[in-house]
Amino acid sequence: MMEIIHISAECYPAAKAGGLADVVGALPKYQAQLGHKTKVVMPFYHNKFSRENRFEVIFTGQARLSQHNFTFNVLSPLGLNLGYELCMIDIPGLFDRPNIYSYGDDTERFITFQVATINWMNMLDTTPDVVHCHDQHTGFIPFFMSKIWDYRRFEHVKTIFTIHNGQYQGQFGFDRLHYLPPFHSFYNGILEWNHAINPLATAIKSAHRVTTVSPSYMDEIRHNMNGLENLLEYERGKCSGILNGIDVDVWNPATDTMLEKNFNVRTVESGKKANKAWLCNEFGLDPSKPLFTFIGRLVGEKGAELLPDVVYHSLTQLNRELNILILGSGDHAVEGGLLHLEHMFKGNYCSYIGFNEKLSHMMYAGADFLLMPSRVEPCGLNQMYALRYGTMPIVRRTGGLKDTVIDIGDGGFGICHDQCSTSDIIYSIERALAYAKDEKNFKKTRKEIMQIDHSWTKAASDYIELYQL
Ligand code: GLC
Repeated sequence: MMEIIHISAECYPAAKAGGLADVVGALPKYQAQLGHKTKVVMPFYHNKFSRENRFEVIFTGQARLSQHNFTFNVLSPLGLNLGYELCMIDIPGLFDRPNIYSYGDDTERFITFQVATINWMNMLDTTPDVVHCHDQHTGFIPFFMSKIWDYRRFEHVKTIFTIHNGQYQGQFGFDRLHYLPPFHSFYNGILEWNHAINPLATAIKSAHRVTTVSPSYMDEIRHNMNGLENLLEYERGKCSGILNGIDVDVWNPATDTMLEKNFNVRTVESGKKANKAWLCNEFGLDPSKPLFTFIGRLVGEKGAELLPDVVYHSLTQLNRELNILILGSGDHAVEGGLLHLEHMFKGNYCSYIGFNEKLSHMMYAGADFLLMPSRVEPCGLNQMYALRYGTMPIVRRTGGLKDTVIDIGDGGFGICHDQCSTSDIIYSIERALAYAKDEKNFKKTRKEIMQIDHSWTKAASDYIELYQL
């Protein structure tokens, strides 16, 4: 039995901006089922989860950031059974805000979170066997643990760092070095990359093992990672890719309480039809036509700026033989472009700008196809949710998408294209429409894809194995 602490900025259901939350909300639960003691440490935000739950204070402490002492509380939610222990660090003034990221003082916020976390861990009776950090917001923890005298009890504790998104590195200038707890200046080089302090680079250099959330993404970032390529090449001996799983308890069309109608492999046709009818009614779409959806952040990484063109050209070129429904928010130009097209294609197209967990579940359940034209996709969970809900993914061959979707032309169950371009996406949509016309085959594929096993069972034990190396 190992004691494992996961540290992250996001964890579903407490706070979610993307797939990171789903992973951190599920992996510890599956590791606990394997007999380990798991804990998630994250910031306490002032969001829906914190308003709707009650918490007990399990620790109150003080720590130092630069010249100032600050007080923090560690909170634990009451009466929730998440399958792991959730500990939330409450830091007034920095995290008592609704959003997770995108504030001007994010650097201070996440350093403070990490300083509070390590100080609290230092006060606990037990020392964990493994500390597993996720993304750059927790990148200094492995450094603190291995190089700072005050935290020397953690010197030999295994640290794992998982890269969910290598685009965000969190760099800032050495003028803010004083935010970090004092350490020997001899170690300054560990923090440095390209003349800045880089939390992602620090983590890659300091952690015992580094993972990405799919094997293909690990191969890709050696050649393309916003300037960190050489570092990864140098550290390649400790790097590996482990494909994420999905939480099959949360993502189960037979029991999902967010659906209008539940369904299983046997009842998939009638189930999907009912959910699609609800969506079409809600968004004024035509239920007799195949429904294509996109769910995700409207940013360049996801290929989102192509969507307005895809909507325009696919609906004009293909004589409105399809419906398109988009859910997401992000770049204002993309949001505007998508909204602008609504009046033009009324009855065949609609966009919901924002984030809505229930609607996303309904879209996996009611759609025929899910578009993921990602430029970069470290793993991608949406294609796996889609598969489990009998929706065919249309993906660009990159990162985790390449590792999870096989093209129908190669005997597989999805549609893949190579370029992140409007014409490649539209060609894939045409192939999808042709495939949907062959009803018998289409229905058979739906049943098959629902049964592909993407549960965490394998990945959870792959991580345990890695912790023991
Ligand atoms: C990030 C990545 C996504 C991955 C998720 C969980 O959101 O962009 O590809 O699935 O993290 O690891």
